[in-house]
Amino acid sequence: MGTAVGRVPVALDPLAQAGDHLHGGSRRGVGPVVRRTPSWPAAGAAWRPPEAPTERRERKERYVTVNEVESNAMAVDARVDKMRDKYALVEGFVGAMEEDSPWVPFVENVWIRHLTFDVRSSSSANVLWCAAGGMLGRHRHRGPVSGFTLEGTWRYLEYDGVASPGAFVRESPGRTHTLYSEEGMKTFFWLNGPLEFLDDDNRVLETVDVFWFIDHYERYCTEHNIPINPRLYL
Ligand SMILES: [Fe+2]
Repeated sequence: MGTAVGRVPVALDPLAQAGDHLHGGSRRGVGPVVRRTPSWPAAGAAWRPPEAPTERRERKERYVTVNEVESNAMAVDARVDKMRDKYALVEGFVGAMEEDSPWVPFVENVWIRHLTFDVRSSSSANVLWCAAGGMLGRHRHRGPVSGFTLEGTWRYLEYDGVASPGAFVRESPGRTHTLYSEEGMKTFFWLNGPLEFLDDDNRVLETVDVFWFIDHYERYCTEHNIPINPRLYL
């Protein structure tokens, strides 16, 4: 069928177009004849001849079987498994010995055993060890912190609660407090974002983040001839 110059194109779907083609450009018995211009294929699409009605019927009536769905899902799983093998980080393991990660003096009566440095998320994991009377000065968190008490007891001077072995502590960004242990303690912490140690006028004295902890660990190792453990770094 041709395209009449000056005629307003009528939008139509490919199936209707195929029907018009077979009818010679008209629809018998359905009112006045309306000539239709062919719709344009999408940019870059290959041109395909219109389907015959029998081909359309066969295509429409073909259903995907359960086996086909399952085999497709299995193929996707197999591909994703390969991506896991290729990109997943190996399991982290830090041994219990001093050379795996030493106790590094932090402040008076307080030591840190570093376990993980994740610079991408600005987070780090460690065990904080306070001898009796150990205190971490007043500090403000810029990210969430989770803590699990392993030994001894401790508390924040600003609150009444006392953490004992098995106690879990969750600290939120923006909170400011002072850690103190009367009898000593060991607590595992997972820190995100920096801590800001403050003076009495809330001026920042020092910012401690994952890079500060890395420097803390590496400097001590270097000074004491302890090999840097690459397993601490993500
Ligand atoms: Fe804290």
